[in-house]
Amino acid sequence: MTKIKLSVSSKIPSFKPGQAIVIAVTLKSKTLELLQHRVDTSSLAGLDLSSLGVSARFEHLTRVPGPNGSVFALIGAGQEELDEDSLRELGAVVSRSLTSFKEIVFDLPTDDDRDAASTLEGALLGTYKYRSVFESKPVGSELASIQVLSDCRVSSKQLERAEILAHSVERVRDLVNTPPNLLFPQSFATIVASESKNYEVSITTLDEKALKAEGFGGILAVGQGSSRPPRLVKVEYSPKKATQHLALVGKGITFDTGGISIKPAASMVGMKYDMTGAATVYQAILAIAALKLPVKVTSYLCLAENMPSGTAIRPNDVIPIRNGKTVEVLNTDAEGRLVLADGLSAASELSPDLIIDIATLTGAARVALGERYSALMGTADAVSAVEAAAFDSGELVWHMPLPAELKAKLDSDVADIANAKIGSTAGGMLLAGVFLKEFVGGGKKNSKPQAWAHLDIAGTANNESAAYGYTPKGATGVLLRTLVGVAEGMSR
Ligand code: BES
Ligand code: ZN
Ligand code: ZN
Repeated sequence: MTKIKLSVSSKIPSFKPGQAIVIAVTLKSKTLELLQHRVDTSSLAGLDLSSLGVSARFEHLTRVPGPNGSVFALIGAGQEELDEDSLRELGAVVSRSLTSFKEIVFDLPTDDDRDAASTLEGALLGTYKYRSVFESKPVGSELASIQVLSDCRVSSKQLERAEILAHSVERVRDLVNTPPNLLFPQSFATIVASESKNYEVSITTLDEKALKAEGFGGILAVGQGSSRPPRLVKVEYSPKKATQHLALVGKGITFDTGGISIKPAASMVGMKYDMTGAATVYQAILAIAALKLPVKVTSYLCLAENMPSGTAIRPNDVIPIRNGKTVEVLNTDAEGRLVLADGLSAASELSPDLIIDIATLTGAARVALGERYSALMGTADAVSAVEAAAFDSGELVWHMPLPAELKAKLDSDVADIANAKIGSTAGGMLLAGVFLKEFVGGGKKNSKPQAWAHLDIAGTANNESAAYGYTPKGATGVLLRTLVGVAEGMSR
């Protein structure tokens, strides 16, 4: 995408062709009314807006001719006051709809710098258009400038933050939307190696030989059925001034057929999304590095393709995980927890201040919380840190429990733990969390209990319906901004 010029200023631009001026519409005693704005709207006076299709319904956008070839984009503000989150959503709706304009001017009520920055962030998020990560040609766009009309002062740092976050979310979406015949563990690792050269991060890639030598039995087992071998990519960002250390672990199944416990045809469609966790922890660390946050971050991308074949793992196989525990595989479709077990073990060895894993882990997450709330589990302090960052970023998480009594459901006669409970779907998301807990901690001797949060984004990683707010159809890039927010919280 060609760079879009962002600005926040109180200078009212002159009306011109190719320009859209965005004004919010509300309903006051059953009549449509324009919310507080600065540009001259006298040309609209006397028009019956509702007969032109204008509505106060949140996100409803109507174009009305403005002076000198400009266009008024009248957007419904809904019932509530426009806060930071709704401004972000409206910003995105506008930029997604008005793709043929050169200039967008937001003339919305903004109370402070955060409101103005959120509007811009949303507008950038809304410009997203899919481009395969193997395509070098930028997506063409008419949009050259976005202005927020406001007296608030927004620093160049805040503008840069909006750009960095939007760029990283875009990259997550591109990685996830890229078809699985093109994106597989090796090609994902190659992209990481070349893209991350532009950032202050270092990369270690473990191939199947190194994975074997270093005891990553979970990643190896899941990948062994595919002709395209697995990888563990470790990305490190170690700024000098860091006092805190955050470890991020992402599920990176580039395609999940279910393996020998194969998925039915309809459930398999969409399983290219199963690497969203890895894409998210990867882009989060790049964003954190670009923002130069004074916090050390280590990201683990646990990459494998889950295929059925003569070399694939079978139900009843027992596999060794990096932390020394053994797992009896009862369902090869519960593969995410196997690769994460290795990633969490490796992260735990570093005894970081906080570990967060993120994964499209269970269909049960979608059943329990739907497609807009991501599930959050973990230790109390970690859960609070993620909740705070999610709140600030406007992303939705819901705290779920890790009931200790569920652990017994994973008892195995031949291994330390089984990866699934056969014949029962009760608490499927919680059971996966309880399984993961077994691979957290045990780092440095005598260190305090490991703070850990688990995010199940099976319901939220992919939006199968129409776009809304800043969420496009397809890969959403959900929780990237929250993860960066956690790192910001740790650097304060
Ligand atoms: N990748 C799936 C989870 C998933 C399902 C993500 C739907 C997105 C949409 C995961 O690997 C899986 O298949 N989990 C099983 C676990 C079960 C076998 C214990 C599931 O949820 O059915
Ligand atoms: Zn699976
Ligand atoms: Zn999976």
